[in-house]
Amino acid sequence: MTVTNSGTLVVDKVSRSFGGVVAANALDFAIAKGEFLAVVGPNGAGKSTLLQMISGIVRPQQGEIRLGERRIDRLRPEQINALGISRTFQTSRVFPMLTIRDSIMVGAQVGLIGGGRAPRRYGPAGELVSALLRLPGYRARVADAESRAEEVMKMFGDRLWPRRDDQAFSLSYANRRRLEIARALVQDPDILLLDEPAAGMNPTETAELAEVLAELRSRRPGMTIVMVEHKLQVVRQLAERCIVMAQGAVIVDDTPAGALEHPRVIEAYLGTRRSAAAFGKVNADG
Ligand SMILES: Nc1ncnc2c1ncn2[C@@H]1O[C@H](COP(=O)(O)OP(=O)(O)OP(=O)(O)O)[C@@H](O)[C@H]1O
Ligand SMILES: [Mg+2]
Repeated sequence: MTVTNSGTLVVDKVSRSFGGVVAANALDFAIAKGEFLAVVGPNGAGKSTLLQMISGIVRPQQGEIRLGERRIDRLRPEQINALGISRTFQTSRVFPMLTIRDSIMVGAQVGLIGGGRAPRRYGPAGELVSALLRLPGYRARVADAESRAEEVMKMFGDRLWPRRDDQAFSLSYANRRRLEIARALVQDPDILLLDEPAAGMNPTETAELAEVLAELRSRRPGMTIVMVEHKLQVVRQLAERCIVMAQGAVIVDDTPAGALEHPRVIEAYLGTRRSAAAFGKVNADG
């Protein structure tokens, strides 16, 4: 299909079922490097499954996923992560006993020993020795990781940074979501996958998160972002392109404005065209 360059993510006729449920039905599209793509659709449409497949947690049964020319759908999640693809989960997954700072450093660790993309001087065994002996190369990478952790915490204003020594269990729901995003960002990914980052946030928190993502966008224009989000206002505000899924398939692929006003989309969400006016209201609040 599409001609690709090295940063393009290609989902090539990908299908996946669970028992009798079709979660992905010949999904076929490409995401260009640096694009901000929103994925919307009703519950059960297959949005999270798409992210699971890109990040290697779920394997497609048919089709291929490629990053540039490289096929990635048979790699393990940590191998895909090491290629520069980081994600957050729909349901927060934080380690309750770790502090904010340590939780984020866990994300950065990927680049310290064993995996990650940071250039390394030695092979894996040598790297481990380097880490254990705190050799200069290792120390430099720790310092680098610490300064990146500080930078991403500060992206969230005073939400995370002043609480950096607090354990994750003590955080508000919104702060756990922020922490997860920070943990993905500290890896400095080329592709960031966000599964409903604004879920459970109130309107103020949602607006604040949208600002953080807009700021990220201006700082890292080359970073591809794929965001599943039910809050359509956030989609309109941030995304350049919007894919609408229903029953495992893409039903519309357009700009957010074009996609969210498409009659098929209104139908998919609400079942009837008559509800179009109500849908408009849902958008405004969402
Ligand atoms: N691991 C799994 N085992 C069994 N069924 C699954 C699994 N993952 C997803 N499904 C099913 O596949 C379908 C698509 O699920 P998915 O989580 O991708 O939807 P979604 O679009 O993310 O929905 P939501 O908006 O509710 O998060 C659903 O019917 C779901 O129950
Ligand atoms: Mg989901």
